[in-house]
Amino acid sequence: MPARIRPTGFDHPRTSEITSRAVYAQRRDLLRLLAGGAAGAALAAWAGREALAAQALAGTRSAVPGAVTMEKPTAYKDATTYNNFYEFGTDKADPARNAHTLKTRPWTVEVEGLVNKPRRFDIDELLKLSPMEERIYRLRCVEGWSMVIPWVGYSLAELIKRVEPQGSAKYVEFVTLADKATMPYVGSRVLDWPYTEGLRMDEALHPLTLLTFGMYGEVLPHQNGAPVRIVVPWKYGFKSAKSIVKIRFVEKEPGTAWNKAARQEYGFYSNVNPDVDHPRWSQATERRIGEDGLFAKKRKTLLFNGYEAQVGQLYAGMDLKKFY
Ligand code: MTE
Repeated sequence: MPARIRPTGFDHPRTSEITSRAVYAQRRDLLRLLAGGAAGAALAAWAGREALAAQALAGTRSAVPGAVTMEKPTAYKDATTYNNFYEFGTDKADPARNAHTLKTRPWTVEVEGLVNKPRRFDIDELLKLSPMEERIYRLRCVEGWSMVIPWVGYSLAELIKRVEPQGSAKYVEFVTLADKATMPYVGSRVLDWPYTEGLRMDEALHPLTLLTFGMYGEVLPHQNGAPVRIVVPWKYGFKSAKSIVKIRFVEKEPGTAWNKAARQEYGFYSNVNPDVDHPRWSQATERRIGEDGLFAKKRKTLLFNGYEAQVGQLYAGMDLKKFY
């Protein structure tokens, strides 16, 4: 079933196209919106977005095992108005309200450190580096809520293999934008800016780790980390750094924003784990955003957020209570 066809103004792809029609349509749509910028994105009605999200339920887009859940995607409105993006404020509603000041063009991502081919990518180069896929991931926040979001991007591994990491590169550090001129809370004392995150090399190379440019078939809204972020679905949401400007390959475990802010509460690994409580609350259950009516039951949180079959091997033999 063609997945991304818009009701009007859509140029049908040629049937000779080798890429599957759905993927092609989706990519073309995304690129077209990117070219049109925010004005283009604003044209799509809420209803259209919801319909696209619903269609995603029927589709298998990414071929990566585990990359598509059949659970109902969170409403676009919830996913874009209930956010954590502390550069724009600490209230969940702040990013949607304040992130319009973020300038996503021009944008470059510097890839550096222990690689044979360090390179600065323009965002438009990065968009074309590998075919876009849709992945419908559960994202579990450390605060006890979760969402299901259809993301658009490609495996971070695609980028990594092009820069040829050296044998000594054991970790990948993500550095995000910290621009006082456009991000009102950069400089506040909540976190040590820039917001940084990190993954072990095998985690970064895992096909589920998504270099993300869009969601719900459109470019990322500013508040969700435009123009490029990562999404690591088996880890608490804070590992999924937004608005990335630098990807650095290093030998030692890098510092991360939340670990620096509260070492006892947020470890480097931060794998979703119902058996390892946060020091101030249980992690055994979660509230699915959009299901918080009077009778909505909390859901049981799953080990590795339900991606154990895909990623469990990465942690074989590790004490997950120690490496939280
Ligand atoms: N990235 C940056 N640069 N700054 C942030 O404050 N918050 C993190 C993560 N990435 C954050 C960030 C947290 S705590 C979560 S839960 C997710 O982004 C939220 O992503 P979403 O708003 O797209 O759901």
